[in-house]
Amino acid sequence: MTLRRRLVLSTVALVVAVSAVIGAGSIIALFSIQRSAIDQQLQYATSRAQKSLQNQGPNGPSLEIGRPSGQAAGTLTVYFLNGNAAVGSVLDNAGDVDRISSAAARPLGEVTVDGAAHTVDLGSELGRYRVTAAPVGPAVLVVGLPMAPVYESVWKLLGVVLVVTAVALLAASAVAAAAVRRSLRPLDRVAETASAVARMPLERSETLDGVRVPDTDPRTEVGRVGTAFNRMLGHIAGAMQARERSEQKVRQFVADASHELRTPLASVRGYAELTRRMGADLPPDVVYAMSRIESESVRMTSMVEDLLLLARLDEGREVQFADVDLTGLVLDAVNDAHAASPDHVIALDVPSEPVVVPGDAARLHQVVVNLVTNARTHTPEGTRITVGIHRVADGVDLTVRDDGQGIDPEFLPKLFERFARADSSRSRSAGSTGLGLAIVDAVVQAHGGRVAVASVPGDTVFTVHLPATRPAVATADGSAKAVPTA
Ligand SMILES: Nc1ncnc2c1ncn2[C@@H]1O[C@H](COP(=O)(O)OP(=O)(O)O)[C@@H](O)[C@H]1O
Ligand SMILES: [Mg+2]
Repeated sequence: MTLRRRLVLSTVALVVAVSAVIGAGSIIALFSIQRSAIDQQLQYATSRAQKSLQNQGPNGPSLEIGRPSGQAAGTLTVYFLNGNAAVGSVLDNAGDVDRISSAAARPLGEVTVDGAAHTVDLGSELGRYRVTAAPVGPAVLVVGLPMAPVYESVWKLLGVVLVVTAVALLAASAVAAAAVRRSLRPLDRVAETASAVARMPLERSETLDGVRVPDTDPRTEVGRVGTAFNRMLGHIAGAMQARERSEQKVRQFVADASHELRTPLASVRGYAELTRRMGADLPPDVVYAMSRIESESVRMTSMVEDLLLLARLDEGREVQFADVDLTGLVLDAVNDAHAASPDHVIALDVPSEPVVVPGDAARLHQVVVNLVTNARTHTPEGTRITVGIHRVADGVDLTVRDDGQGIDPEFLPKLFERFARADSSRSRSAGSTGLGLAIVDAVVQAHGGRVAVASVPGDTVFTVHLPATRPAVATADGSAKAVPTA
């Protein structure tokens, strides 16, 4: 049950309870006040009846004892002699005395003769009466007044109480619903903001900019929640900024370090090469050592270049968009691969007319080269490699397929991570760095595309999807902005 419904229902229940208590109290009070008034009247009626009894002639009491002056309509007067109702009458509205049957008077014979008021039910005709029985010589005189007016006013009051309660209920539920809705509206806003934040991809601290709860009045409960929530968002944004700063520092460091390593590496390579050229005068051991130094420095140079490129791609730089002829790019890469691996069968599956995509030619060339080189270097000789280009709905798919031994399924999820290699000494010695696919992934992402792999023994396919339009770039204020194709 929602908090809103519970609050409204409690208010309504409270109104019902209060109305019931007040209504019941009023009815009981009215009843007892009216009954004491009747009892008072009854005393006067009794003394009037006794006086008129004394005035009766020697023939004993007649119906006239029920009609002394001042007696109210409905007054009951019964004269009992030896336990039998000798004379009994009721005064009607016209002031006449109507005799009552001895059967109707029978319950009156059982009233305690003590002069106090008692309530007696005299059947359907007369209804309930308030009566007193008093001894008069050997006889008993019973005088009564009808309770009907008391019950009538009690019923009327009950009706009024019910109507008033119903109206109060309607009013209370309407007012409670409106008040609860009004006071819970800020809470709704807090909940909306919280779920908006929960849906956000919290990758950049800027996404949290301007996301705040407007209700922050510290005098209200919701305001305190809102304040705490805003403060929490501030902390999260701060933590994210700190993380971004440290990531930025690491990237900067890697970029600087790679950059700084290029020059000494070039010297090492240059001197090794120089020494190899003068090899004739050197002992074979030294020649071998120098050639190892040269090949390892080549490997290290390419690793440093890869690291530098990755660091720059991470910073969002290093991609310059222009129209790129993907077909020409693939043709070049395949020709190079033919020359490098004459023992592999390399086929092409491209449309006859050139396929042009928006992108950075040098980086896309690197993607194709990395994938084709992998298909050459990580498969045995004689493997068939097919490089294909296919137009799809929203762009172009570039595929590099080979029928080599495939990639270990356990290794597949880590394939695009940095320095990830299916660890074998062969691939290490073949100049493997484990950065090739990480670069492919970073370049493709910078183009707004995605790369996927599917591999079973005998069939490994890398699919690079490139969109037909330039990706939206993040502007300085963190909002995304679409850029028209150049
Ligand atoms: N076509 C392929 N067939 C089999 N294994 C592959 C293929 N492409 C990539 N791999 C595996 O993925 C690993 C990572 O590749 P990559 O990131 O290019 O690094 P590197 O080529 O420098 O080892 C490789 O070491 C290799 O084990
Ligand atoms: Mg590679």
